[in-house]
This record gives sequence, C-alpha cells and structure tokens, in this order.
Amino acid sequence: MAMKKVFVRTFGCQMNEYDSERMLALIRDEYVPCQEPKEADLILVNTCSVRRKAEEKVYGLVGRLKHLKKNRPQLIIGVCGCVAQQEGENILKRLPHVDLVLGPQAIWRLPEALARIQRGEGPVVDVSLRKEFRQPLIFPELNGTRPVKAYVTIMQGCDNFCSYCVVPYTRGREISRPPEDILAEIECLVRQGVKEVTLLGQNVNSYGRKEKNYPTFAELLREIARIPGLLRIRFTTSHPKDLDEDLMRCLAEIPQVCEHLHLPAQAGSNRILKLMNRGYTKEDYLAKVKRLREICPEIALTTDIIVGFPGEREEDFQETIQLLQEVRYDEIFSFKYSDRPLARATRFEEKVPEEEKARRLAIVHQVQEKITREINESYVGREVEVLVEGKSPGNPELWTGRTRTNHVVNFSGPAGLKGQLVHVLIEGCGQHSLRGRVRANN
Ligand code: 5AD
Ligand code: SF4
Repeated sequence: MAMKKVFVRTFGCQMNEYDSERMLALIRDEYVPCQEPKEADLILVNTCSVRRKAEEKVYGLVGRLKHLKKNRPQLIIGVCGCVAQQEGENILKRLPHVDLVLGPQAIWRLPEALARIQRGEGPVVDVSLRKEFRQPLIFPELNGTRPVKAYVTIMQGCDNFCSYCVVPYTRGREISRPPEDILAEIECLVRQGVKEVTLLGQNVNSYGRKEKNYPTFAELLREIARIPGLLRIRFTTSHPKDLDEDLMRCLAEIPQVCEHLHLPAQAGSNRILKLMNRGYTKEDYLAKVKRLREICPEIALTTDIIVGFPGEREEDFQETIQLLQEVRYDEIFSFKYSDRPLARATRFEEKVPEEEKARRLAIVHQVQEKITREINESYVGREVEVLVEGKSPGNPELWTGRTRTNHVVNFSGPAGLKGQLVHVLIEGCGQHSLRGRVRANN
C-alpha cells in the first residue's frame, strides 16, 4: 500500500518540537512527512498559546487550510498543542473544517484518534490531562538524518501560576517523568549517534519533588552523565526561586553539563515581580547569580524579559534595564506583555499602551545588543570547545556547532568532523555567531 503523507507545522517552544517528533514517530507506519500542505493527506498544526501573537498565527494558518479541504474532503486537519488544550471544542466552532483537536498530554493517542476519524466518527476532541507521566517510549525517526543533538522531556506542566502565564492551564499541573524512562530514552538516542541532549521542562529545578523516591534534578543529572558516549548535557528552563547550590555545583563539576543557564528574570522591579507572582525579589535573583558565578565562573546566562506588564511604570522599567546591565546576559529573549485567557494579570488594570510597550522593547533590544556584542568580541583570540553539528547552513564550506556556553560558531576545518568535539580558535564575530578555525580534535 502506498504511504500517505503528513505535513507538520510546529509553533512555540522546544517541548512542542519534541511532541511533533513523537507524533511523526507514532504514525510512521502509515504516513511519511512531506514539505507542502497541498500534498498532504494529514496536516497537523502543533500550536503555542504563550503569547497572543503565537495564537493569532495559528488561527491564520489553519483558517487558510480551508480551501484544501474543499478540494479534497478526505484530508484530515488536526490542531494539537497548547491552543488545542486551551480552546478545546471552541476550535471546531471557529474552524469547522478541523477534524481533530489534541491537547499536549494526549498526543500519544494520535493513532487511535486518526482511526476514529477514518471510521467516520470525527471530529475528535481529546484534551484530557493526565495525572502521571507514563507513556510508551516513543522514539523519533532519526534514521538518515543522524542528528548530533536531541531534546528529552523530563517533566510537564507547571505549578507556579505566574500571573501572566497560560502554561499551568494548557500543560496542566507539574508531573515528572520516571527516571528510568528518561535514562532509557537517552541511551537509545546515544546508540543512534546523538552526542548532546537538552532536558526539557517548564521548571526542571523542581524535578521529582512531588514524587516519592524520585531523584532530585541534580541527582538525575549525575545519573545521565554516566551514560557512555553522551558528550554534553543541557537543560531548560530553570526557575530562579528553585535554583540551589546543588545544581550550581552540577554546572561546575559534571564535565558533560555545559556552562550555560537560562534563568528567566522577567522584570527588574520588585513591585512588578510581586504582581507577576514570581516568588523572588531582584536582590534574591542577583544573589543567586553572584553565588553561581563564584561556583562556576565560566557560566553564560540567558534570560526572558517581559516589558509592559500591567502597572509597569517608567521607574519599574528602568530597573529591568539596570538588571540587564548588572547581570550582562549573553543573550535575552524579550516580549511585550499580552493578555492570556485564564491568566490572572489579564484582569489587572493599568494596562500599558501598545506603543509604549513597543518603545520599551526597542530600548531593551538596544541595551542588550551592545552587551551581546561585547561578550562576543571577548571570545576573539580564545580557543573554545565546540561540538560539531554539521555544515553551516549559510556556507557549506564551513562547519557549525556551539561552544559549551551555547554560542554558535561557524568555522573551517578538515572533513568528517560531524559529531566530534573540537577546539576552535575564534577569529571574529557577528551579532549572533562567532567565526574561527579548528585547532585540534579532542
Ligand atoms: N505576555 C508576554 N510574554 C509572556 N511570556 C509568557 N507569558 C507571557 C505573556 N502573557 C514569556 C515569558 C516566558 C516566555 C516563554 O514567554 O517571558 O518566560
Ligand atoms: Fe509560566 Fe511561570 Fe510556570 Fe514559567 S514558571 S511556565 S512563566 S507559570
């Protein structure tokens, strides 16, 4: 029987990328991936609702698929991920050509849902949340592509209820995945040639805390580091309130754990942090950064910043700018605040006008651009360890990879380096990457 074709479009975070890979793996006996929606028998849109802009994009894209369905009624269109969870049945009202609405914790029931639709029992809406993170191990299709890096989800959901955030509602309460499943998945990835894993969770620092007899996150890292052949370990995201000395020591002491921490600050003003329900003050945050830099001087920090949170005045915003100047992050991800359904801040008054949010965001970009450039320039003349990921997309003559501190490096070197750790002499830099040449293989 000829294979059917599936087109997948993924929005949002790495967790969605991970979930999309799993969905493809679950249906690989029936469907092969294709590049164009118009060729597809099945279209899956894996959605993000963390900010309003991301959600609007989804409605735009799925809306435009309507004409394909008109010409080919047998086409199946599925909306998966966080917008699916948040909107449930409502999606069918707004987009009646959709056949399937699948929440992020229901993706492993995709084959079952497709079978029901094919039997004419659609549309199917499955947005149930689960109480434990146990699922059949599903391995992504790595054959042929041989990626050097892979994501591994270690927990789902979040219990923090930051007042601007929709995640606790779309991804549910925090649940940790059993350590034996995590280890088995990583071992399998390493057997297929993966050299670096990024452990994913909304708040990895609280891994295992709600479960009986689970290791702590630091203990889990130590166990993962024992897997032979795994060269590098990264993780994201860490909540500042749960960052402890044990984890700081892991960053400094476990050779495979890379010296990079994404530590979302969100804002620099204590008044705003309180309204955001972040659970720390600027002083707490800075004290942790200071201690981390004592324990692990090479650490590179990145962060997320929200501008224009309801009630943010000029003096609050200036404190965010001061935080950027004080910490000197290698890179930041900054966003204009947007109201999200169910999130508490949506009901806060004193909303900041759009133009003012845009002005503040532009200032944040300007301040950070200079800091990032200065940090990039400080690499010139240094020799750094790089894990070679493959040919540089912009220039096939060059290799590309990342430093331990997560900076992209494009560099010249001999053939056959993919998957190896090499030492690269940094000779120049741009705003987003470093350039150099190989000095020696490890
Ligand atoms: N508005 C703007 N940014 C948001 N984020 C989360 N919710 C919102 C919102 N309502 C940002 C935070 C978070 C990142 C993933 O997205 O900075 O860390
Ligand atoms: Fe959202 Fe806060 Fe949880 Fe992060 S920690 S997912 S911002 S509620």
